[in-house]
Amino acid sequence: MLRVLGVTIPGLEDFLCEEIRELIGATPAKVAPGKIEFLASPEDVILMNYMSRTATRFLVVLFRGIIDPMNLENIKKAALEVDWPTLFHYESLFAVRAERTGNHEFTSVEVAATIGEAIVERFLADTGNRIRANLRRPDVLVRAYVTGNLLIIGLDTSGESLHRRGYRIFNHRTSLNPIIAYSLVKLSKWLDTLRKDPEVPLIDPMCGGGTIPIEAVLATQKVPPGKWRRYYPVEHIHLFSGVRQEEVMSWADSFILRDLNPCVVCMDISPKSIAGAKLNADSAGVKMKFLLGDASKLGEYFNRIGAVVTDPPFELRMGRNRRLSEVFRGMSESLQERLELRFSAISAGPALPKLMNAMRVLKLVYNRRILYGGVEARLLAYERRNTKQESCEG
Ligand SMILES: C[S@@+](CC[C@H](N)C(=O)[O-])C[C@H]1O[C@@H](n2cnc3c(N)ncnc32)[C@H](O)[C@@H]1O
Repeated sequence: MLRVLGVTIPGLEDFLCEEIRELIGATPAKVAPGKIEFLASPEDVILMNYMSRTATRFLVVLFRGIIDPMNLENIKKAALEVDWPTLFHYESLFAVRAERTGNHEFTSVEVAATIGEAIVERFLADTGNRIRANLRRPDVLVRAYVTGNLLIIGLDTSGESLHRRGYRIFNHRTSLNPIIAYSLVKLSKWLDTLRKDPEVPLIDPMCGGGTIPIEAVLATQKVPPGKWRRYYPVEHIHLFSGVRQEEVMSWADSFILRDLNPCVVCMDISPKSIAGAKLNADSAGVKMKFLLGDASKLGEYFNRIGAVVTDPPFELRMGRNRRLSEVFRGMSESLQERLELRFSAISAGPALPKLMNAMRVLKLVYNRRILYGGVEARLLAYERRNTKQESCEG
């Protein structure tokens, strides 16, 4: 078994833990913000790379421990302890990338260079051969994370970040990370309800390029998010010799249910967004309904309001939207009247208090802070208030 590090957006660790449990039955533990660790076979690592909707990458852990954060020498000592020559061949080209969070007297570039030196020294000492680095096109990518006084060194198994799904051909100017889109869908309870009620709709009334509705349909159909890449850079890592990536992926493909077409609605006030969402949905091979409309009049468009999952403007990059409070209020009125499941949304910036204020008519059931592209954002979920019960409790 390998010690594996799963990396995700800080704040979404429990979504990734649950997914790992469901996919391979492992019991992960959180080891740092956005990082969980668990045991898995090499085949399972490929499977998770192919199937995970909530991870950005997976690493084989080579070192995890507490270091003196002021001293690069300790990082070198930790890296020298790793038995590098048993992990890959000296003719493989390698690179080290490091990320650092906290106060240190060194930079992440220095961390990477120090670990690189240790790898070269260890190969020379053990095999008499000099391994070469290639920072642009390495065969083996070593990653290091320094978080306060915690050092993690691992072998990357994912390559390009797994949130880059590959179906997106129209890039909305504020497109949402698909990991968050899927997490919001999970939060809405729609996926669980579909089994009992296949007609229950999921509506994204501010869908932009359609990331949330597309992730919702792909999850229902069990289409692996790695469908558009089908390769993970592990062939130079000895631990993976004998693993047939194609076979693992074909096995995962055998569960795809492309004929399942749930009721998913992609709505936006902008014709350009709707046109772009159509392009993305076609590229992902999913069917859904498209509607040009105003979210403030949500109730006027639909017979049923099942789950509403959305990513409204944050008013950060695109500036103020004068109608936003009114739009949120209009939405919340329809939701309080007719919402069947949950309303889940991401918000940040000046839009966040406006959204929370308007949604006060509903019951807040989830409020999680996440770090999204350097911005502190919130994942929120609301349900209708049970007015009778609440007035009794008075
Ligand atoms: C942050 S973007 C959504 C991005 C989308 N999640 C994606 O991944 O591409 C917000 C969207 O809300 C839409 N919008 C703003 N006001 C609206 C309104 N009153 N009704 C419907 N859509 C609205 C904008 O046109 C924009 O496409």
